[in-house]
Amino acid sequence: MRDNGAPNGIIEDITVIYFLRFLKSLCIPLLPLLISTIITLPVQPGVAESNHPEFVGTFACKACHEKEYNSFMQFSKKAKSFESIEKMRKGLTEDEIKKCYFCHTTGYGSGGFISPEKTPHLKNTGCEVCHGPGGIHVKTRNPGNIKKRIAMEDCARCHIAERVRAFRYKPLIHGGGH
Ligand code: HEC
Ligand code: HEC
Ligand code: HEC
Ligand code: HEC
Repeated sequence: MRDNGAPNGIIEDITVIYFLRFLKSLCIPLLPLLISTIITLPVQPGVAESNHPEFVGTFACKACHEKEYNSFMQFSKKAKSFESIEKMRKGLTEDEIKKCYFCHTTGYGSGGFISPEKTPHLKNTGCEVCHGPGGIHVKTRNPGNIKKRIAMEDCARCHIAERVRAFRYKPLIHGGGH
């Protein structure tokens, strides 16, 4: 049915044309932004690939959590875990040493520790082995951006059954941190 005398087809065409113009006017200002996003994405492969926030290292937590920081640095062996590798370095091949990194450093193989030279702030096992990468949390200060609920499975990644038996101790959920 026609009510204004114009053929339906034309009305539809006009609607489509206006809609496309509207889209264009919307997209042109956004285009540079879109392009720059596409260009910069591959520049941060770690972030883009894993979708993980960055590891920032234990010292970055000090400013706001001094109590936990001091207690950790003073009492936890984790804060000196790289020394344990150094002590045994003689007689180990480079490949064998890399296997130690998984447990004795922060975030090795998942966007964290690379080498003592490149990532000195991540060379010991720090806060983030339990609380997860803190890159977003240190900026937002939002407790929602950091892991608080920690389960035994989180510890078992490094405190593997074999090791627990060998050392005759079962890690306590509140031990080893602060
Ligand atoms: C710029 C300040 C700031 C820095 C740096 C910071 N935090 Fe926080 N964090 C906060 C605030 C604020 C809270 C919420 C109040 C509180 O619990 O003290 C919080 C809470 C937390 C909580 C409790 C979360 C919850 O659900 O209650 C944990 C765990 C935590 N932070 C860990 C860390 C770790 C690990 C680092 C270092 C990687 C860190 N924070 C660095 C400000 C900071
Ligand atoms: C990324 C690996 C890793 C994770 C995850 C981890 N630990 Fe550890 N932990 C270590 C290493 C490595 C040491 C030994 C450091 C050294 O002596 O060189 C250690 C040492 C300890 C010790 C020995 C005593 C001390 O004061 O340090 C306790 C207890 C402990 N961890 C408890 C825990 C608990 C509980 C959890 C989970 C909430 C946990 N750990 C998660 C790697 C880890
Ligand atoms: C699967 C995780 C894991 C790997 C891999 C690992 N460690 Fe450990 N290491 C631990 C944990 C957890 C502790 C502390 C708790 C314990 O004593 O069981 C520890 C403790 C140590 C200690 C202190 C022992 C003591 O009696 O205080 C030394 C030294 C050490 N590791 C050296 C190494 C070296 C060197 C490598 C690599 C060849 C290595 N570790 C690989 C998890 C690991
Ligand atoms: C071995 C694991 C482990 C490490 C390493 C660790 N924490 Fe924790 N952290 C915990 C556990 C477990 C809790 C208690 C969570 C709960 O209440 O359920 C906790 C709680 C916290 C809280 C919340 C305290 C509260 O009263 O609500 C803060 C803040 C925090 N940790 C900061 C840090 C900082 C900063 C570091 C490094 C200096 C660190 N943690 C290292 C295991 C760890």
